[in-house]
Amino acid sequence: MDIMEQKRSAAKYSLSFIPRSGIVGIGTGSTVKYLIDLIGENTDYFREVTFVPTSIQTEYLLREYGLNVTVSFKGKMLLDIDGADEIDTQGNLIKGGGGALTREKIVAYNSEEFIVIADSGKYVSQLGKFKLPIEILPFLADQTIENIRNLGASVQLKDSGSFVTDNGNLIAIADFGMMKDPASVARSLSVIPGIVENGLFINMTTRAIEGTEASIREHVYFRKNGE
Ligand code: 5RP
Repeated sequence: MDIMEQKRSAAKYSLSFIPRSGIVGIGTGSTVKYLIDLIGENTDYFREVTFVPTSIQTEYLLREYGLNVTVSFKGKMLLDIDGADEIDTQGNLIKGGGGALTREKIVAYNSEEFIVIADSGKYVSQLGKFKLPIEILPFLADQTIENIRNLGASVQLKDSGSFVTDNGNLIAIADFGMMKDPASVARSLSVIPGIVENGLFINMTTRAIEGTEASIREHVYFRKNGE
């Protein structure tokens, strides 16, 4: 299977994890688009499900199919399904290639199960080849970027600063090189004021579905308490 077929087959496999009723998070990107199209072919089956979209783009696609959508839910979602830019052997991720990382992280954090769907090219032994997206406030953005640089990264603004997130913010793209300890990078970023959220998803994934050249590979991870 080529990359697009791998994305589609991972998306198709994940369909069976969606419950017939309840609240389900839905991510953003081309792999998730396949999933939404598959859900949209079965709107009757999913009529008791309410979806929490992680971007305006996803919300629009879900609403076009007439699916139930909410953006003001309180409590734990049963499940969230999303794509990723890189997945390491522990299930830690780099996300945010589409600029939706903050809403994606909020939804993943508040879901009992977080399933990642991705083609085989996204699975890596160490995170870092894909540069890390970081959502930052426009206020004093140059200084926030300088503070990220001081952690040892080279940093640029996505689309030279013309990309604006659904939350009205900017995306800094940081190159930390290959990350031996992505959790410590995430912790260092989390104390810099002006950073809304970073694209490192540490210890959040519970399952990943990999579309491979031949078929599907399923990876199961256990969230470690206290991390
Ligand atoms: C968007 C994301 C996407 O999940 C990630 O970029 C993967 O996208 P695709 O499925 O198109 O390869 O994090 O912010």
